[in-house]
Amino acid sequence: MATATHRPAADPDTTAVRTFPEGFTWGTATAAYQIEGAAAVDGRTPSIWDTYCRTPGKVRNGDTGDIATDHYHRWREDVDLLAGLGVGAYRFSLSWPRIQPTGRGPAVPKGLDFYRRLADALLEKGIEPVVTLYHWDLPQELEDAGGWPERATADRFAEYAGLAAEALGDRVRTWTTLNEPWCSAFLGYGSGVHAPGRTDQVAALRAAHHLNLAHGKAVQALRSVLSPAARLSVTLNIHQVRARSEDAADLDAARRIDAVANRVFTGPMLNGAYPADLFEDTARLTDWSFVHDGDTALARQPLDFLGVNYYSPTLVSAARGEGTHTFDGHGRSAHSPWPGAERVAFHQPPGDTRTAMGWTVDPSGLYDLLRRLGADFPGLPLVITENGAAFDDYVDPNGEVHDPDRIAYLQGHLAAVHRAIEAGVDVRGYFLWSLLDNFEWGHGYSKRFGAVYVDYPTGTRTPKSSARWYGQVARTGALPA
Ligand code: NOJ
Repeated sequence: MATATHRPAADPDTTAVRTFPEGFTWGTATAAYQIEGAAAVDGRTPSIWDTYCRTPGKVRNGDTGDIATDHYHRWREDVDLLAGLGVGAYRFSLSWPRIQPTGRGPAVPKGLDFYRRLADALLEKGIEPVVTLYHWDLPQELEDAGGWPERATADRFAEYAGLAAEALGDRVRTWTTLNEPWCSAFLGYGSGVHAPGRTDQVAALRAAHHLNLAHGKAVQALRSVLSPAARLSVTLNIHQVRARSEDAADLDAARRIDAVANRVFTGPMLNGAYPADLFEDTARLTDWSFVHDGDTALARQPLDFLGVNYYSPTLVSAARGEGTHTFDGHGRSAHSPWPGAERVAFHQPPGDTRTAMGWTVDPSGLYDLLRRLGADFPGLPLVITENGAAFDDYVDPNGEVHDPDRIAYLQGHLAAVHRAIEAGVDVRGYFLWSLLDNFEWGHGYSKRFGAVYVDYPTGTRTPKSSARWYGQVARTGALPA
C-alpha cells in the first residue's frame, strides 16, 4: 500500500441527496466486553480486560466491564432499539471466556445459549446477526500461558472458532475472525495502554504474527463447519497514514508506520507474505524466526470481504528533535506501539473539529482509505465495520439527547463512502460505532460513542437525535443533503 501526503480535507458537494446502492447493508456495532456486564455470570471467567481493569492506574476512574450497559440482561430491549432504528444488521462480538472459560476444552452451554437467543431475536426482527469472534477479551488463563506472543494461542483460537461455528452456524451467516488485531498486538503488548498491558516490542511483533496465524486457522475451522453460503472476514483498523511533507525523510516515516500498522496484517492475510521493509525496519529487534514455513500462506485464506474501521487519519513526519509532540491517537505511554519506527513524530492532523477523543474529524481520510484499498485489493469487497464519534452528550431537561456534532460526523463520513462508491470502490455496508454508549477501554465510561445514551446508574437507554437521523438514512438508503 502506498502512503499519501497530507492534503486539505475534500469539500464534497453537500447539495444533493445521495442514494446508496440497492442491497447496501446498514448496521450498528458493539463488542462483548464493552456492553455485556455480567462478568461472573453463567460460568464466565476473567478475560485479560477484567484483570487489566483491576490493575490500579490503568483504566480511567478505575472503571470495569463488570456491569457495563448490562446488555447480558437487557438484550431484548437492545434488540427492540435496533428494530426501532430500522437497521438491517447488527455486529456484536462473542465473549470467548463466556463460551470457553479456560480458553480450551468444551463449550459452556449457557454461554452459547445467550448468543443463540440473541441471534434468534435479531432474525425474528429481520436484522442480520454479524458475529466477531475476538474483540480483545482473551481468557486470562491463555494470557497466563503466554498470551498472543505464544504460538499455541493461535491453535486455541481456531478451536474456539470451530465451537462457535458449530453452535451458531445454523443462524449466523456473516463472521469476522479478529477485530483490530493491531490494537491487540501493539497496544496490548507494545505500549501497554490496552490489556494485558505488557511493554515489550518483540512480544508485540510475535503477537501480531500469531494473530495473523490465528486468523488463517480460524477461517479454515469456520469453513470446515459452516455452509458454503457463509461470509467470512477480518476487521482491520487500517491507518490512513499521511506524511507531513513530500520530504524524503517524512515519506519514509509514513512508510514505516504504514508497514507496522497496516501491512504487518494485510501482507500475510491478503498477500500471503510479510513486506520486506518491515523485516528490515525491525531487524534490530528480532530475526522473525517465530515465523515458520507455511505460516503466511496459511494466514492468507480467501475472504468474502474486508472489514474496515476508520475514525481519523494519522499524520507523521521524521522526528527532528521537535518530536516532543507524541500525539498518535492511541493513548499516552512511555513505550511505543510502533516497533521499527522510533524516529517518527506524530502530529495532530489539521482540521477545525475534534471529537471528545481528541481525534480530528476528517472524512477525506475515509475516502482516501477506501480508494486505496479498492486499488490495492481489487475483487475484495469492503465493509465499514466501524465509524463514529464520541462527544460529551447529556440528557437535557426535556429528557432528550441532542448530538448535532455526531450527526455532522456521520453525514460527512457517509458522504465520503458514497463518493468512494461512485468512484468505483466496492463498498457493501456501513456499521455505526456504536449502538450504545459503552466501556471505552482505557477511557472507561468517560467517552460516549453511542447513538443511544446510557444512564449507567440505572441502565436507562435514551436514543439520541443521531439515532433517529441514522435510522432514517438506514431505512431509506439515502443520505439527505
Ligand atoms: C475501535 C474498537 O474496535 C472499539 O472497540 C472502540 O470502542 C472504538 N474503536 C472507538 O475507540
